[in-house]
Amino acid sequence: MHCKILGIPVQDGAGRMGCEMGPSALRTAGLVAALGELGHQVSDLGTVVPKPQNVKPHGNPALKALPEIVAWTDAISEASYAAGEDGMPIFLGGDHSMAAGTLAGMARRAAEADRPLFVLWLDAHPDFHTLDTTASGNLHGVPLAYASGQAGFDGFFPRLHTPIDPTRICALGLRSVDPAEHTALRGAGVTVHDMRAIDEHGIAPLLRAFLERVAAEGGRLHVSLDVDFLDPAIAPAVGTTVPGGATFREAHLAMEMLHDSGLVTSLDLVELNPFLDERGRTATLLVDLTASLLGRRIMDRPTRSH
Ligand code: ARG
Ligand code: MN
Ligand code: MN
Ligand code: MN
Repeated sequence: MHCKILGIPVQDGAGRMGCEMGPSALRTAGLVAALGELGHQVSDLGTVVPKPQNVKPHGNPALKALPEIVAWTDAISEASYAAGEDGMPIFLGGDHSMAAGTLAGMARRAAEADRPLFVLWLDAHPDFHTLDTTASGNLHGVPLAYASGQAGFDGFFPRLHTPIDPTRICALGLRSVDPAEHTALRGAGVTVHDMRAIDEHGIAPLLRAFLERVAAEGGRLHVSLDVDFLDPAIAPAVGTTVPGGATFREAHLAMEMLHDSGLVTSLDLVELNPFLDERGRTATLLVDLTASLLGRRIMDRPTRSH
């Protein structure tokens, strides 16, 4: 596999500063070496730079940094589309607003290859607000709604080449969903497995069913991993911790199943705020999870688990 690393140091979409250090922390934690040790070719493509532009004022007075995030989204969409020409792009955030661009770029790539794009959204939050429904105004709360073509972004965010079919999105690990997001997720037909579902069924059967769908439809799979998917006890370096997240073992199992599926074509690592970390432990965990997704394993397996 040719892994293509792209740094996206956006922090204006989060409620506090620090995510701009995320790409540096992931590089410092040894991401390139970890992937190289697995036998992958690794290219570091450097850092995306936002493309400032005129953005008209929006009627929602709560919105924060709309022109900045529009500038980032435009640049990220183009850079991720370019990186997606071949190999496996790994996007280092940056807050989750960056997924507006990475999803847009990957969806355009998939459409050109005549393949449906599926999204696995690993997060405590669905980030399914529109510009009109967000109450916090933090634009890391909107990327999944934008990329799946929900209303209200026209005339503000870049026009989407290819909206992602919401029924091809699976959100796993949710435990903080605002009322407007709840209504919109149900209306759009997003598959949602909240923490209760993980507790009741286990993470493996839920993920396996989704992967079987992706395979059956010949899809590509983009994985978007928000640090707050993980329990704060193992991953403190995020501004939006929510108790009761995925355990170390659930997270590694998910990554190992994703690897075995052979379906993953791109990855976001988002919301790492190194200012909140403890001696780099969260950055190190993200590198280890990425290694599991790219083939690190404890023992050979006699049969494929997926
Ligand atoms: N739903 C909340 C909001 O809109 C939290 C969003 C958290 N998103 C994230 N990418 N951490 O403000
Ligand atoms: Mn453009
Ligand atoms: Mn998120
Ligand atoms: Mn989150």
